[in-house]
Amino acid sequence: MEACIYKKFGKEGVLEWVGGWPKPVCKSDSVIVEVAASSINPKDALLRSGKFSRTLARDPLPRLTGLDVSGTVVEVGGNVARIKVGDAVFGMTNNFSGGVLSTFAELKETEVAKAPISISLVNAASIPLAAQTALQALRDICGVNQGKKVLITGASGGVGHFAIQIAKHLGAEVHGICSTDNIEFVSSLGAHCVYDYRKNKPAAIDNQYDVIFDAAGRYKREDFSPQLGKNGIFVTTVPSGKSLLSELMARLKISKKSRLVFVHSSHKDLSQLADWIDSSKLSPHIQKVYEKNEIVEAHTQIQSGHSRGKIIIGLMP
Ligand SMILES: NC(=O)c1ccc[n+]([C@@H]2O[C@H](COP(=O)([O-])OP(=O)(O)OC[C@H]3O[C@@H](n4cnc5c(N)ncnc54)[C@H](OP(=O)(O)O)[C@@H]3O)[C@@H](O)[C@H]2O)c1
Repeated sequence: MEACIYKKFGKEGVLEWVGGWPKPVCKSDSVIVEVAASSINPKDALLRSGKFSRTLARDPLPRLTGLDVSGTVVEVGGNVARIKVGDAVFGMTNNFSGGVLSTFAELKETEVAKAPISISLVNAASIPLAAQTALQALRDICGVNQGKKVLITGASGGVGHFAIQIAKHLGAEVHGICSTDNIEFVSSLGAHCVYDYRKNKPAAIDNQYDVIFDAAGRYKREDFSPQLGKNGIFVTTVPSGKSLLSELMARLKISKKSRLVFVHSSHKDLSQLADWIDSSKLSPHIQKVYEKNEIVEAHTQIQSGHSRGKIIIGLMP
């Protein structure tokens, strides 16, 4: 089969499509998906650059790229009960190194769900990693619900644009932070109030929040001390010595005020997101669907750090 691989770590130019890559073998708890599309996430670029090669991503080179996927199931393992051959599915691999951007991808049954039916299968690939991150940060870590006041940074990006809509749907009053060009876009997602980080530092925000979700991963809790007060929860997306230590303290029940989200793929969360999409409560914004041979351009775009919504690689002709 064809596969998008890298033989060494480095800049986006190390990515290449090759033929003759072995088709994955279906395990008893897995499904094989004929891939329609994959979305590109900042983590794809980090993995390709070798960022986690000595820690969490030790899969050998050459290595397949890609974490998000949508497509049609062509094979199911003997213990698979929820999914059948022919189902249109979307999902994210929990294999830290990734490996789904190829003609066929193997995922655990628990990592995929039936794709939403109100959007194209290609566009469904935009959802799994980014929207599950937003859902798990807001609902599971921060307990966002009716009446909470929430501020989201990176509100126009892959994670942030889902987070604005999800927080609103959970019943919160939602405010966002983005750059000047994205203010109208973030307002259109349902934010009550939008701040321009190019014009105002966090200290200038005259508001109090129960939760600040740093989807952009550009801030520290201390940047928002006045807005969070003693009891507000700050959750970031980016691991650092400090955020890892804070998350450890939270898991040890010492202090739950500063958190770090680690997205994991769950068929229940994916099904919830598909329901919200099909009932018009959530909508992915697709900046661009790149063609298969534009993988280098797609990685260049995600590395800019200024994508609006999501970018996708489409495999279907
Ligand atoms: N821990 C996890 O499980 C997990 C999961 C998903 C993502 N992440 C991480 O979360 C981060 C965001 O992911 P993403 O998919 O949303 O990325 P993305 O689509 O590239 O979006 C990045 C966002 O950051 C904003 N931004 C750029 N420069 C900024 C600055 N100086 N100050 C404030 N905001 C700024 C951009 O807004 P403008 O374009 O308006 O500038 C954009 O909205 C990445 O670091 C990613 O690796 C972690």
